[in-house]
Amino acid sequence: LRKLDRFMERRRALAARYVSALKGIPGVRPVLPAGGDLSAWHLFPVLVDGDRDGVFNRLREAGVGVQVHYIPVHTQPYYARTMAFAAQYKIAEDRGVPIVQAPPGSDIYLVGLTFQWYPILQLERGKEYMLHLSSLDVNHGFSLFPVNVNFQIIPGYDYALRVTPTASGDFRIICNEFCGIGHHTMVGRVIVVD
Ligand code: CUA
Repeated sequence: LRKLDRFMERRRALAARYVSALKGIPGVRPVLPAGGDLSAWHLFPVLVDGDRDGVFNRLREAGVGVQVHYIPVHTQPYYARTMAFAAQYKIAEDRGVPIVQAPPGSDIYLVGLTFQWYPILQLERGKEYMLHLSSLDVNHGFSLFPVNVNFQIIPGYDYALRVTPTASGDFRIICNEFCGIGHHTMVGRVIVVD
């Protein structure tokens, strides 16, 4: 913490340098904090029109680390599959989140997004399912309580696991990877019935 102010000053100076260097370049817009807000400049986000991959390749060749961040949720195929799955097999709702029960043997979908696990899965004890896990935004940590099953959930991947619940009950999914301001509220549910 003693170094924090110095680090922040340095980041702000670098961000100011990027902003002035990018000024007037057509199709390139830095995403700047609103009003007089301060940014920690954890990232320096830039919107690029046109040939994004070309820009990426040239930056990478120059040794600059770049990544696509925050792909709009509705354009992601995993989101579409999860929404279709939830709509097809919804049996009830808990505070706006569908409780979804699909037939044993089927593919079931769970998605992590800031700051929830969607949907609530209801499974039958002793039956096998193909569980798919993914994130729509940042890294999340899937931790099933109290069974201590843990996975890193990284955007862009579709993790598929064969699962057979061996105990009935109402289980909680906790996010155990810091993912932002609402991380501590990111609690999901898996219900296992006999
Ligand atoms: Cu999701 Cu922490």
